Order: sequence, then structure tokens, then C-alpha cells
Amino acid sequence: MASKAKNNDFTLIAHRGASYDAPENTFESFDLALELGFANIETDIQLTSDGRVVVIHDSELDRTTDATGLVAETAIAKIKSLNAGLWFEGPDDGAGVKGPMAYPEAFVPTLDDILERYAGKIHLHLELKSKEPELSELAHKSLEKWGWLDQSTGGYESPGLTMTSFHFEQLERSIALMPNIAHGWLVQNLDKATLTAAFELGLSGIYPNASKVTKKQVTDAHKAGLSVRTWGIADSKPNLHRAYRSGATGTTVDWPAIAREVIEAI
Ligand code: G3P
Ligand code: CA
Repeated sequence: MASKAKNNDFTLIAHRGASYDAPENTFESFDLALELGFANIETDIQLTSDGRVVVIHDSELDRTTDATGLVAETAIAKIKSLNAGLWFEGPDDGAGVKGPMAYPEAFVPTLDDILERYAGKIHLHLELKSKEPELSELAHKSLEKWGWLDQSTGGYESPGLTMTSFHFEQLERSIALMPNIAHGWLVQNLDKATLTAAFELGLSGIYPNASKVTKKQVTDAHKAGLSVRTWGIADSKPNLHRAYRSGATGTTVDWPAIAREVIEAI
């Protein structure tokens, strides 16, 4: 199921899950996205010190767990023992309970955890967050193990898989390992040089910052055979409008249910 706004060509992707209402990149935020009707879910992966792939955005543990230090310098046993929900000061859950009390069980999942739990249920937009060459190799192995490589790709159908990264070298490695899977390059600006590089690598998409994207850039990308979806909306409704009007096919958002209402009102 791809949750669509009024424009059937614009798909809302739950960024780090429904991360406005639940702690990002946890089962809680991914489950909530699904409950709200959003089967397109974005998440981030990095490597631990002992070579395990974990689902976390920052290179440091400090912001989203009850520990400090670099993910890359911490072993999986320690990371699995951490709480990933106590930091979260989310909105009222409707029963008068806020953040910390609402998510006492949240933990940092491994990539294997989420591939097992959501197999056949979501279109995963998987971002290779860190730069280690082993990250794309290990992600590939896990995706193969859990049967994610034979699903829909290049669009937003669920179940499905799209690989993304800001790091061009990571995309080069990943596309060599998974040539049949759609890959999109996260960029700040969709300029001619990025368009050419993306086309030459054989990427299927280019993903500019929503606050900078223009209609002409999107048209040029489409002419080059590249799909465009945006990121970086944060809580900005003007940026959401801008992304929607640019002709992009979708965007990541922290609050997909609110975004759906905003777009339906345009
Ligand atoms: O949709 C891509 C977006 O997630 C990239 O930015 O920093 O949230 O990973 P970031
Ligand atoms: Ca991300």
C-alpha cells in the first residue's frame, strides 16, 4: 500500500518512521507509520565497532539513546542494551502521557531486526548513512537473507526497496552489488553536474533538499530519465508545498498524517 495524497503521483514517506510522534528509527516509529497508513518508510544504517549494521541516524549515540560515544566505536552488545525512547519529548499520546513514559521499551534495532519484522509489509527507503565500504556489503547480505531483493523497486509500491545515500562512493558500491534495485542520490542541490553524475552511474533517482528544489530542476531530471523525490521538510509546511508543486514524485516527512492533510488542502 502506498499512501497517497490528493495528487496520486506524490507519495509521503515516513522519515525515520513516524518520527514526529514516536522516537525515530525504532519499532515504535515504524509501527506507528504503518498504523497511520504509510507503508513507505525511510531509515538510516551504520556500522558498529564489531561490524554489525544498526538502525540509527547520528554518528553519535548521544541524542537518541541513553549512552554517549560514536556508533562506530561501540559494540553491538552495548548498543542493543541501550534505551532509544527515553530521550523523546513527543506530543501528548492522547491519554495525557508524553515522551519518556510513552516509549520505555524502545531500543536501537539492527538492520536484520527490521528486515525480519517488516518483510512483505513496507517499501523500505534504506539510507547508507556512514561511509565504511563494508556497510553496503553487509546491507546487501542482510537484504538477500531476508528476501528483500526480489520486490518492487523504482517506485513506491509496497512491499518494496529503494537504496539511498548522500555518499556517491557508497552508491557506486551498492549498485554494483544490487544492480536490479533502484538507487537514489541524496543531494542538497539538483544541479547539472549532479544530474550528469547520477545518470552516468545508472542511478534511478536523484533526491534534492525540498527547500531548494525547483520545477525546472525536476523537469530536467525527468528528461534525463531520473525520478525525483525530496527530503529535509522537517516541520516546514512551506517546504512541503514547494516539494509538492515542484513535480517531484514524493518526499520524506516526519509527520506524514499531517502532511497528507496539508496536501489535500492545496
Ligand atoms: O530522506 C532522506 C533524509 O533522511 C536525509 O537526511 O539527515 O534525515 O538522514 P537525514
Ligand atoms: Ca535518512
